[in-house]
Amino acid sequence: MKLIIINGPNLNLLGSREPETYGKESFEAYFSQIQFQFREIELSFYQSNIEGELIDEIQRADKEFDGIILNAAAYTHTSIGIGDAVKAISTPVVEVHISNTFSRETFRHSSYISANAKGVIIGFGLQSYDLAISSFLPK
Ligand code: DQA
Repeated sequence: MKLIIINGPNLNLLGSREPETYGKESFEAYFSQIQFQFREIELSFYQSNIEGELIDEIQRADKEFDGIILNAAAYTHTSIGIGDAVKAISTPVVEVHISNTFSRETFRHSSYISANAKGVIIGFGLQSYDLAISSFLPK
């Protein structure tokens, strides 16, 4: 099984960015842990702060991977383009968020991605990503 995690803007700053909301661990450190934890899965990771690059990566990942775990960060709430990319591809996408976006500002309550995602996992800290990975495993 091949899965890719695609992270959007400012998630390269995990560990130092608003640690009370996003925790103190860098994504790189967390990614090493999940690579070990899910060693039977071929896990890849991509991050960009640029909307079009995220769309390019979603298109590239289609068919190449068995699943996409997407945290589009702020673009979740603004990007029709990323929403359309998720709709356009056939590889299933699980939307994840580290924080509980519903307990935050109202502009974080909407998503252009959810309607076309296989599922949505919100608010479990970095564990949201491991829950998303587990959702692709056979029962
Ligand atoms: C986020 C929530 C978004 O509202 C925010 O813009 C982010 C991160 C999360 O993972 O909690 O950058 O997607």
